[in-house]
Amino acid sequence: MRIRAALFDVFGTLLDVYSVTRRAEELFPGHGSRLAIAWRDKQIEYSRLRTMSGRYVPFSQVTREALEFALDLLSLSCSVTTVRELLDEYKRLTPFPDVTPAFEAMLKGGVELGVLSNGDPEMLEAALVSAGLHRHLDFVLSADQVRAFKTDATVYGLGPRALKRPAREIVFVSSNGWDACGAAWYGYTTCWINRSGLPLERLGVQPNRIGTDLTTVTDFLLKDYA
Ligand code: LAC
Repeated sequence: MRIRAALFDVFGTLLDVYSVTRRAEELFPGHGSRLAIAWRDKQIEYSRLRTMSGRYVPFSQVTREALEFALDLLSLSCSVTTVRELLDEYKRLTPFPDVTPAFEAMLKGGVELGVLSNGDPEMLEAALVSAGLHRHLDFVLSADQVRAFKTDATVYGLGPRALKRPAREIVFVSSNGWDACGAAWYGYTTCWINRSGLPLERLGVQPNRIGTDLTTVTDFLLKDYA
């Protein structure tokens, strides 16, 4: 089977969510890294809790509420303006350096490219445009369309519907191990980009490929599967 479509997770996979650390460190010296980690962890936790309990709100709201919790947790008091400033960092997250060359190689090889993210459309648009990635994408699919977050099957179901191919004929790429597992459960062919050297999730499913950056995906699609 020749696979010619790839869907990418956005936050953590294409864009570095920890690039907020620099601004966080300027605002709260000595706490930047802990704040960035607590913020991201809470964001993911809230996305799951809200999905499990049928309490959907857009990911931008989840992200704001997670930040407010993380600031409280670390006893960092700040003004509404500072919260806004940190949230604005999400509109200009740094893309990982391997992303643009991989996108260019895949497009040249005739691969259709899209993203499938928890992010709501405005949030995605701002971040993808700022990173210069928007112009490479044929599809920008948002969990907001089904008012649930990953790993809900309805979210992964957006891919085959939009790309008009079965999930196994689409490579789903994520640096979030749990997201690669969720996509594999749904039936996608999956690549886990293990950017932070984490152990494999114990969820009874294996990604088809594991690598440390997106050259794994280009090799998989353009060499191994050519
Ligand atoms: C996303 C989350 C996983 O982009 O960060 O869907």
